[in-house]
Amino acid sequence: MRDMKDKNSKNKILFSETDIKDIVCRVADEISQDCKSMGINSLNVICVLKGAFVFAADLVRQLEIPNINIEFISASSYGSSDVSSGNVKLGCIDNLSIFGENILIVEDIIDTGNTLKKLTEQIKSFEPNTVRVCAMFDKPDRRSVDFDADYVGSVIPDEFIVGYGLDYAEMYRDLPYVTVLK
Ligand code: IMP
Ligand code: MG
Repeated sequence: MRDMKDKNSKNKILFSETDIKDIVCRVADEISQDCKSMGINSLNVICVLKGAFVFAADLVRQLEIPNINIEFISASSYGSSDVSSGNVKLGCIDNLSIFGENILIVEDIIDTGNTLKKLTEQIKSFEPNTVRVCAMFDKPDRRSVDFDADYVGSVIPDEFIVGYGLDYAEMYRDLPYVTVLK
């Protein structure tokens, strides 16, 4: 298998490291401004593992909000395929203590919308004060359920992408850029 970190590889880079930095700063700024205007000083960030771990780590370091708490939950629906099974499994969600909190769910990508729809419904059942959703990437052409995030890094066409936390069969999460899976 070709090493995708090879600088001479012919993979089409959709988002370079610089593109990603610009997007993260823009999204962090939008969230920080919104929190400021809503008088929110404490934010409970819920990172959806595994894919969002890189994005969440970059994002929280750019947020200008006085108190930030980070939780991790897991969601999976793909297995080792590039087509969503639609059967979303959520992990570690019962351990959350978020009643009355201001929540920001951080996800890598929205595809069919199944994961975030199910996840936000469950998060809301804990009766937090506010719930907002941020996704680094969004593929609206693939939506099968009605779901929109409050903050989106970039809308992308219907292609399967890897890198910057996103995987194919657990590979390529470590790429610092985003490329289309061949
Ligand atoms: P959804 O439930 O169909 O919206 O799928 C969301 C999840 O599918 C994300 O959290 C990703 O883990 C995965 N996913 C969807 N599209 C891609 C992609 O293009 N590359 C890698 N993972 C993806
Ligand atoms: Mg995945």
